[in-house]
Amino acid sequence: MMQSVILAENVYYIGKNDNREVPFHRLILARGTTYNAYLLKTEKPTLIDTVDMEFGREFVEYLSEMIDPEELQYIVINHTEPDHSGGMAALAGRATNATIVCTEPAVKELKEMYKLHSRDFLVVHDGDTLDIGGKTLLFRETPYLHTEETMITYCVEDKILFPCDIFSTHVANNQIFADEAGFDITEDFIGYYNAIIHPHRRYVRALIDALETLDVQMIAPSHGYILRNEIQKYIGLYATMSADTVTDKKVTIVYTTIRSNTKKVANHLQRIFEENDIQASVFNADKADHAEILASIQEADAVFVGSSTKYADMIGNIEDILKAMLDMNLEGKIGAAFGSYGWSGEAIEVIQDYLNQTSMNVQSTSQVIKTTGMTHVEFPVRVRFSPKDEQLTKIEHSATFVADLLLSAV
Ligand code: FEO
Repeated sequence: MMQSVILAENVYYIGKNDNREVPFHRLILARGTTYNAYLLKTEKPTLIDTVDMEFGREFVEYLSEMIDPEELQYIVINHTEPDHSGGMAALAGRATNATIVCTEPAVKELKEMYKLHSRDFLVVHDGDTLDIGGKTLLFRETPYLHTEETMITYCVEDKILFPCDIFSTHVANNQIFADEAGFDITEDFIGYYNAIIHPHRRYVRALIDALETLDVQMIAPSHGYILRNEIQKYIGLYATMSADTVTDKKVTIVYTTIRSNTKKVANHLQRIFEENDIQASVFNADKADHAEILASIQEADAVFVGSSTKYADMIGNIEDILKAMLDMNLEGKIGAAFGSYGWSGEAIEVIQDYLNQTSMNVQSTSQVIKTTGMTHVEFPVRVRFSPKDEQLTKIEHSATFVADLLLSAV
């Protein structure tokens, strides 16, 4: 069932209630969900987000009863995942005068997903505003909440925040507003946060800072209930749940190196952990006392093991450390492999194989994608030659991911 309701003068909610048991991020949404879009019937009519691809035609038919799609001047896409941008498949050919408003990383995705290569795009950056004729939209980029290209939109005059996935709930509801739900939605709000947002909690803190500059009187997300009461309570829940809750964590980083490039990776990992108030001990396995290294590993909460690659294998004494680790009880620790290489980097994969034989929770790119949807975090940490620029960023992403695992009890 599609329905609409007015939120403010010329601001309309248009929502699709999906009461199936929806498969979603390897979860089954037992209570369904909704896909919420918003129409601002200003002098330059603007649509904010659409609905799931499956309901695109129904959405366009419903929208057409409210406005001729050819009158749309802007379509704002806060997030490209098809449960929100999916309506573009049906809408793009009916709203031929509309400029698509999104972040830079979203452009390529939308062009590929909906064959929009010949359409006009307006790329917006953090803090940009757009006059839509009687109302002003302010855009804040929110990368990794929960994908790289995401942004939120704020209507300045009506003080309404359109945050797409953020501040959502997964409940197929016939009542649009949380205060009319007939029950306290807090548990659903928290459940949604834990399932979708918490792995990205580092970025939630930047969002909370950004919201402090805005007077938000209503939060109109793209799943579930619209919030118009107790706004600060809901923002405060995100602030609390995204905060670090654990201290006194330790990381041990052990490596061998040929030309100091793997050493540079080790040192950069250490720097990132220390910036997160995590004690990080670094050992060169060819120089440090092995008993001291193994004692540090036993005490650590996370262990990174690295080597340069020579003749398709590890170098130096690192294998002695790995063999000793096989006989240790490492239950509950996080493990990760890393290294610098020139050609294929076989040593890093051999280390990964060793770590997988321990009882540690060994990080892999596959596991990160499956559990969080993050595609910018890579394990093992593989760096070609000397780490520079984007490779330093890659190391940083991997280290901060582990730091976030260590500093959160959830
Ligand atoms: Fe509701 Fe990230 O999609």
